[in-house]
Amino acid sequence: MRAIDLRSDTVTRPTPAMRSAMAQAELGDDVFGEDPTVNTLEERMAALFGMEAALFCPSGTMTNQIAVNVHTRPGDEVLCEEGAHVYRYEGGGMMANSGCSVKFLPAERGRFTAEAVEAAVNDRAHAYLANSRLVVVENTVNRGGGTVWNIAEVRRIRTACDRLGLGLHLDGARLFNAMIADGSTPADWGRTCHSISICLSKGLGAPVGSVLLGTHAFIHQARRVRKRLGGGMRQAGMLAAAGLHAMDHHVGRLAEDHLRAQRIGKIISEQPWCARVLPVETNIIIYDLRPETDAKEHVAALASEGVLCFAIGPRQVRMVTHLDIDDDAVDRTITILRKMKP
Ligand SMILES: Cc1ncc(COP(=O)(O)O)c(C=O)c1O
Repeated sequence: MRAIDLRSDTVTRPTPAMRSAMAQAELGDDVFGEDPTVNTLEERMAALFGMEAALFCPSGTMTNQIAVNVHTRPGDEVLCEEGAHVYRYEGGGMMANSGCSVKFLPAERGRFTAEAVEAAVNDRAHAYLANSRLVVVENTVNRGGGTVWNIAEVRRIRTACDRLGLGLHLDGARLFNAMIADGSTPADWGRTCHSISICLSKGLGAPVGSVLLGTHAFIHQARRVRKRLGGGMRQAGMLAAAGLHAMDHHVGRLAEDHLRAQRIGKIISEQPWCARVLPVETNIIIYDLRPETDAKEHVAALASEGVLCFAIGPRQVRMVTHLDIDDDAVDRTITILRKMKP
């Protein structure tokens, strides 16, 4: 029997319908701006978010890295939270690609406040301080356990950014999960942020692809940086078609992933080896084990039963629900979780 893969929502494989959409896509050379399917995806995403322009890229890491590069100059400082993907899981890219330093903002499960931004910004009058230039918000917050930001707080952060001359980039790798969870709309987020990165290859189930959104001028420069990083793709319409298919068929169903994550989280919270489960807000379940249980051993024991997940700390484990996890997989996972020994 195939393993139940709860390591990440990136592990999904394209459905037969998505593969068929990919095979039938109209194609051209996107580096020449001639791929009609890529152009359709970019226009559709920009219109949906009420933003001027969009750029299709190979990965969420690339959209984030391009955004940082366009917003900043070498020597600038980026403000984000310690667990932010853009800082922690992108190979030191902000420092290597853009020459930026980073200041961590105090946060609660990945969410910080406008006051924290205001308190952290360096005074521009002092030439010896780095130029604070960009704030990065992540929604949902991966490392926080799929936490959803209150958009009212992000609006307050934007107001602070405007007053302080900072850019606001949203790492929306899982923004559709957040919007399904709280009812906020793409237009709400488009109005609130200077740039947004959306991943099509996480909960939305496309095999590849992320979209960067911003003004015409921002995306014009982003296109140049994408090329410089080697991210200019040719007949990329096959991949964009998967993204378009995902937008048509896989957005509403994210609510099912959230319900399934809640079911799994509830059962875990009842087990003797579990110290606590972080509140399950979307499709990510993070739990702490009791001191006598080692996360790596626990994950290995689950794997031997056919449930795959990640240890993300000595006593912390993460599971993620997605398109390839149905109710039957959840039932089987629950049966196996109940058999686990401390
Ligand atoms: C919050 C967040 N941002 C960005 C990324 C990067 O996406 P990619 O794996 O497509 O580079 C991820 C990947 O898991 C993520 O969780």
